Amino acid sequence: GAPVTVNLNMIAPGTMLTVEWQGKPVWILHRTQEMIDGLKNNDPFLADPFSNRPGFTPEFAKNIDRSRKPEWFVCVGICTHLGCSPSPRFAVGGGEGMPSDWDGGFLCPCHGSMFDLAGRVFKNQPAPDNLEVPPYYFIDDNNIMVG
Ligand code: FES
Repeated sequence: GAPVTVNLNMIAPGTMLTVEWQGKPVWILHRTQEMIDGLKNNDPFLADPFSNRPGFTPEFAKNIDRSRKPEWFVCVGICTHLGCSPSPRFAVGGGEGMPSDWDGGFLCPCHGSMFDLAGRVFKNQPAPDNLEVPPYYFIDDNNIMVG
């Protein structure tokens, strides 16, 4: 499929945009500093905090942010369990039905897998892996190309 260009100016901090690439939803999340700072708190609770497992994380994203720039998280929005699309849960504390120590991320509606704001899966979830980071690069400060 053709690469997709995305203008980042329209994505306010703390919100995300979903674009389609190769028939798949790709999320572009504009992380706030608070979201970035909270990532490290999740490490002890994650199945693969540094994305060492092969397959879902390109070399450039093998860092705590799983991204090229901490404030921009780009991810295929498809659960690594059976392919449902997780929903964003950005409220601190996780909101209704979520653990009080959950500082936000993504929740899969099908079997309840929980991911953090870098798409990293928590331990003991049905999903076996972190969410996939697709190939992408920055054309300039305000535009990325996915693909
Ligand atoms: Fe997401 Fe099963 S498809 S938890």
